[in-house]
Amino acid sequence: MLRKGFREAATLLLLTPLALVGCSTATPAAVGSPGASSAAATATAAADCTLLSAPEPGNSEPPAGVAMAEKAPKLTAKDKYVAAFSQNASNNPWRLAETASMKAEAEKQGVKLTITDGNNDQAKQIQDVRSLISQKPDILFLAPMTDPVATVVKEAAKAGIPVVLLDREVDKSAVAGTDYVTVIRSDFVQEGKRAAWAMAKATNGKATIIELEGTTGASPANDRKKGFDEAIAACPDMKVVASQDGDFTRAKGQQVAEALLQAHPDATAVYAHNDEMALGAISAIKSMGKTPGKDIMVVSIDGEKDALQAIIDGELYASVECNPGFGPSAFEVMKKYAAGEKIPTVMINPDKMYDASNAKDFLATAY
Ligand code: AHR
Repeated sequence: MLRKGFREAATLLLLTPLALVGCSTATPAAVGSPGASSAAATATAAADCTLLSAPEPGNSEPPAGVAMAEKAPKLTAKDKYVAAFSQNASNNPWRLAETASMKAEAEKQGVKLTITDGNNDQAKQIQDVRSLISQKPDILFLAPMTDPVATVVKEAAKAGIPVVLLDREVDKSAVAGTDYVTVIRSDFVQEGKRAAWAMAKATNGKATIIELEGTTGASPANDRKKGFDEAIAACPDMKVVASQDGDFTRAKGQQVAEALLQAHPDATAVYAHNDEMALGAISAIKSMGKTPGKDIMVVSIDGEKDALQAIIDGELYASVECNPGFGPSAFEVMKKYAAGEKIPTVMINPDKMYDASNAKDFLATAY
């Protein structure tokens, strides 16, 4: 029954215009590899790398046994809602696209939406949320920067405000279904596994990898690392030799990539937890006189416009989509919750895989 409830909600997500931005299941294994004949991709495939013969992992199954939100503060149905949205940063196209999606859907639904920007600063976001709580919105949408933002999730619950987490989790001291209604997000572990699969294809299963991690303490940074590490364990010749926080930004990604590539001149690949850091790494590779997509293969996550262009240009091998268009599903959950419908405590967005076979098709509509 619980699972059925989840599936209904997941189906609902699949049907929303938001989810349609990125809701198809994975592209099959046919990746048009710009680097297939590169120096980085050694001529012979690693025979013992089982990722090479495995199908593209695609989206994960909806998690089993998901509980419904029973104990979170209730939301009374009304004609006109007053909502708040705490965004954690506005420093990359993904964040801007997420905020734009929330704004557009609020306008469409006639919801008054107050938005704050945490400026990529955990303390600032905590302050923002406290200030939003004091304004007593009907509902609080919260895209947490890092795990400790759990503190103010619990404060909102104590103040009787239902919270919907968007795109990231907080630490487990905030209880799903009690301190917050639900979290709507991608499966970040699966994204890491899909990136590892693409990296195996890009490098024939033999790679000396530099990893650019997302912001320390952010759930996508933890999970994308975990998924990638788990998946490359199937390939003995794929090794991460250095891994460092690039804060999900292009500038920091470039700076860290430069330092790590200099320290590891034998590196043949870069795995970046988001496109912005991958684009920074591509600049770093070029500034060292090397050719991205040939000497060094790059794989990342998000699917932003510049990344799709980099795929088309042969500089980025693949980007696993992480869809930022949360507006439609966020406000749909709000309405359903107010109507007394059961809401599962986690809702997973399906994502695509972008590579040379399809990047052109999505360029015009990308953010
Ligand atoms: O939480 C999602 C991640 O956060 C996106 O991959 C990244 O670009 C953003 O800042």
